[in-house]
Amino acid sequence: MEKFIPMVALHKPRLLTGDTPTGRLHLGHWIGTLQSRIALQDTHSSYILIADLHALTTYPENAHCLKDKIFEMVLDYLAAGIDPQKTAIFIQSEIPAIAELTYLLSMLLPYSRVLRNPTLKEEIQFKNLGDHYSFGFLLYPVGQVADILAFRPERVPVGADQIPHLEMTKEVARRFNQMYCGVDPHAPDEKSIELGGLFSILPQEPSIAQRLVGIGPPNASGTLPKMSKSLNNAIFLSDTPEIIKKKVMGMYTDPNRIRVTDCGAIKNNPLWDLHDAFNPDSQWVAKAKALYQTGQISDVECKKKLIDVLVTFTEPMREQRAQYANHPKAVWSMIKEGTAKANQVAQETLMQVKSKMHLNYFR
Ligand code: TRP
Repeated sequence: MEKFIPMVALHKPRLLTGDTPTGRLHLGHWIGTLQSRIALQDTHSSYILIADLHALTTYPENAHCLKDKIFEMVLDYLAAGIDPQKTAIFIQSEIPAIAELTYLLSMLLPYSRVLRNPTLKEEIQFKNLGDHYSFGFLLYPVGQVADILAFRPERVPVGADQIPHLEMTKEVARRFNQMYCGVDPHAPDEKSIELGGLFSILPQEPSIAQRLVGIGPPNASGTLPKMSKSLNNAIFLSDTPEIIKKKVMGMYTDPNRIRVTDCGAIKNNPLWDLHDAFNPDSQWVAKAKALYQTGQISDVECKKKLIDVLVTFTEPMREQRAQYANHPKAVWSMIKEGTAKANQVAQETLMQVKSKMHLNYFR
């Protein structure tokens, strides 16, 4: 007898996420986004956008470096377990529909609303942009709205810092549905498609914004900033065992602990954040923490254990990565395929958008 395949199995919900290409990925990326993407790719039709246009918004002079950065990042995706059969990895600037949608959708966002976007404001501060940022920089959250809506996704799992962009996306989707699809402004979000809207309004994402702290030093206020390449406090997924050892041995711990017999603090101490996040032996961690707090175990012992844990964790990724790195042509053709698949979806959305707006002059 033929096996019955339920329809739902054929229609996986679509998922979209993205990253600005910064090159190699680190343990913070694993905790923040990679592991959840890998878990979700079996049940979702997944798309990962590489936001090369976003990279240009602050460093247009570095355009020539993007190709290498993209390649390094994709090696890490693949090494970590993103499966190109399940996830289309694609390049933002290769999707013309996104650029067109950015233009069309920008009309639905008041300028003052974009300026109030908290992530944008934070970035201006963090990157010390003052009032010297480009016009393109201000445009990028609108571009992100287009990135997302182009795929009409059911899920957009992102870190907490990206939530303001999702909020803007919802506003634009509602406005589009009202202005061009006749959806009643008072209609509940869940009904938008039923009532003729083109875009569904994304439901609240469960927060996956677990943050991993960097390996120090702490900032002026004494707290540890999150792991980040630009702060030079990251352990990369592709670091060699020697480098991992060097980084962990030199890592900031509790500055008030001079001798082993001093009580050590667990909080604000990357040693324990990293054990918590990566050590599968939670019994050892619980015991060692207790000993640490009462001055009965050395930093060095805990660090050595951590080195083992991290080297073991990253070992299969290093192996996989080296294999992919030896086949750059295959990697690029995989990205090309992902981009072609993404273009089909985005192009279809653009056609529908233009049709709803009555911009389909020649059809
Ligand atoms: N702005 C995101 C970041 O820097 C990257 C990004 C661009 C993105 N477009 C997106 C993320 C669409 C999710 C969906 O991390």
